[in-house]
Amino acid sequence: MRLILLGAPGAGKGTQAAFICQKYAIPQISTGDMLRAAVKAGTPLGLQAKAVMESGGLVSDDLIINLVKERLMQPDCEKGVLFDGFPRTIPQADAMKAAGVKLDYVLEIDVPFSDIVERISGRRSHPASGRTYHVKFAPPKIEGKDDATGEDLIQREDDREATVQKRLDVYSAQTRPLVDYYRGWAEQEPAKAPKYRKISGVGSVDEITQRALQALSN
Ligand code: AP5
Ligand code: ZN
Repeated sequence: MRLILLGAPGAGKGTQAAFICQKYAIPQISTGDMLRAAVKAGTPLGLQAKAVMESGGLVSDDLIINLVKERLMQPDCEKGVLFDGFPRTIPQADAMKAAGVKLDYVLEIDVPFSDIVERISGRRSHPASGRTYHVKFAPPKIEGKDDATGEDLIQREDDREATVQKRLDVYSAQTRPLVDYYRGWAEQEPAKAPKYRKISGVGSVDEITQRALQALSN
């Protein structure tokens, strides 16, 4: 299985990626998680990405495309892959096409912007694993602690309300056009293009997982 999860910030891509990757035994390529790890480690990439990410903008296409191409060379990607938060611009999607990266599905998770601010402002993250919780909708067993390790949960730097609005604007301007891009491709070249599926991301986490797995089975 090779797929892209498409959706606005806070739509639940990371949450659903965990279940889909488990079901198909495939790695999750989350460019956001990779960038946050680079920022934490203080690598040259992290130093370049830090300020852009905190402001809610997008890291340059060149940096991201190289990052993903390198990751795809690792052997665990041979059995399949789930892209979470990539591609995020038309040039990133074009670069994947040009590199001949095969895809079975593009799965769009649709959540109205009005729900998103509450989701993001209540998010708590475990940076080492990428696991996410929500103070109201998906609380950890012990407040402020990761279920598996007991380590502290943090609030992401870009999860402040003002930055969230900027991220939603950037999504509308730069990422949302990918909906038409992949839909159009699926209509024009059904044999070659990935199948396009759209599900509602409103409901319980379990309900959405069921919708996602159903959409990926036909
Ligand atoms: P990235 O990490 O990709 O962030 P994002 O796309 O903004 O998405 P999020 O991680 O915020 O949301 P999500 O959809 O994963 O939702 P989640 O499952 O956590 O990118 C961060 C930054 O890195 C970007 O702004 C950019 O600067 C840079 N970047 C990354 N990739 C890039 C690229 N390709 N090109 C350029 N720059 C790039 O859920 C959110 C919350 O909701 C959680 O608390 C969760 O518990 C809760 N929740 C989940 N499902 C439900 C539900 N059904 N009901 C209620 N609550 C729920
Ligand atoms: Zn995420």
